[in-house]
Amino acid sequence: MEQYIIKGGKPLRGEVSISGYKNAALGIIAAAVMTDETVKIENVPDISDIDILLKVITELGAKVDRIGKHTIRINASKINTVRADSENVRKIRGSYYLVGALLGKYNKAQVALPGGCNIGSRPIDRHIKGFDALGSEVKIEHGLICAKAEKLTGASIYFDESSVGATINVMLAACMAEGQTTLENAAKEPHVVDVANFLNSMGANIKGAGTDVIRIKGVTKLHGSEYSIIPDQIEAGTFMFAAAASRGDVLIKNVIPKHLEAFTAKLLEVGVTVEEYDDAVRVMAKDRPGSTHVKTLAYPGFLTDMQPLMTTLLSLSDGTSIVTESIFENRFKYVDELTKMGANIKVVESNTAIITGVERLTGAIVSASDLRGGAALVMAGIMAEGFTIVENVEYIERGYEDFESKLQKLGAVMAKVDSNDLKAIKKFKLKVG
Ligand code: EPZ
Repeated sequence: MEQYIIKGGKPLRGEVSISGYKNAALGIIAAAVMTDETVKIENVPDISDIDILLKVITELGAKVDRIGKHTIRINASKINTVRADSENVRKIRGSYYLVGALLGKYNKAQVALPGGCNIGSRPIDRHIKGFDALGSEVKIEHGLICAKAEKLTGASIYFDESSVGATINVMLAACMAEGQTTLENAAKEPHVVDVANFLNSMGANIKGAGTDVIRIKGVTKLHGSEYSIIPDQIEAGTFMFAAAASRGDVLIKNVIPKHLEAFTAKLLEVGVTVEEYDDAVRVMAKDRPGSTHVKTLAYPGFLTDMQPLMTTLLSLSDGTSIVTESIFENRFKYVDELTKMGANIKVVESNTAIITGVERLTGAIVSASDLRGGAALVMAGIMAEGFTIVENVEYIERGYEDFESKLQKLGAVMAKVDSNDLKAIKKFKLKVG
């Protein structure tokens, strides 16, 4: 097991470039198997969740060529099974997009129930409702989502509550259904738009992605394409909050500032300076942040993934803040770890954190239990006095490319070491003093 060791207290300064969006890449890679022609995808993040999905499509018979750190070519003309049942499928959430993709292309799919971060119960009933409406029969059997249809037919589908995963998954299948599909109360997140743009570049006919009504005219065939994935709004947000939390000055490049507006608004509210450029934002802070209240909401509201970073920033605020999680019911697990570092946070009714700002955090041994909560603990380590160890970094590496080296370049004093390598830990401590 690997862990980060961090010596906190140093402001982050400099420039960082943001990688491609993990959550868009997962949908786009699944979509790529829907054509027999070759697809070239650029700006693919180099992270473990993506490696795993690429392994899964290879197991199905697709040919994947890496032609650079961030560029891949996929040819799915030799897919020889619609059954995705390996251990890899269960390791990640995004593997469930193969249900929509395979169902759309072959009218059948058998995909193991997905894994992913343990942040709540994460049912898939809205995905199933959508596939049902398109004329397929969907059953959960022996841990697999089994979907099949004589043929898929366009339908009018209303989602009771918006879901990113269900919107993308049903959109994938509907692309190749006969006739028109309308998705109402669809998710509006940037990655829904990116997957739709990619599908359109392959010849799909999708209109309205980014609004709550998406209209899809089914086509019989999709063709090859070249496409570049949008920057990761969550990685960008993480560096924005880390810059503010460390009271530093960081230019975050290769971003779409519009996607970051909810984060920018909250940072401005707590007294942080944010300057927006065409494809960059600069975040500067000198003092303790002020307090505020935040509720997570679907886009364009404040993203649930940024909630752990917001709570962590506010742990040092000058006042009392309330953060309410309204999307996932189990997303405050990292709070117990933060309290080991001296934060004063009380979680009530499992979805509301009451944060009484303290003047300082102090380093401790803490453990990541999910991707974004883990990133928040690293940020806490950067904010804290003394040494922090963050265990279970594999959660963090699922979604952040070169996390420690990007932070190191900004001046963070940290290293990744094997948890059994006591010598390396001692050496790091001696070196940084
Ligand atoms: C996506 O998860 C992201 N994952 C999550 O990012 C992100 O936190 C989330 O959207 C919200 O933005 C991927 O894109 C792979 P939802 P997803 O369907 O699609 C409930 C990260 O750290 N729901 O929008 O699973 C669900 O339980 C990850 O990068 C149902 O009840 O989210 C939740 O309460 C973590 N039934 C809410 O809806 C369903 O069929 C929103 O979920 C589907 C969802």
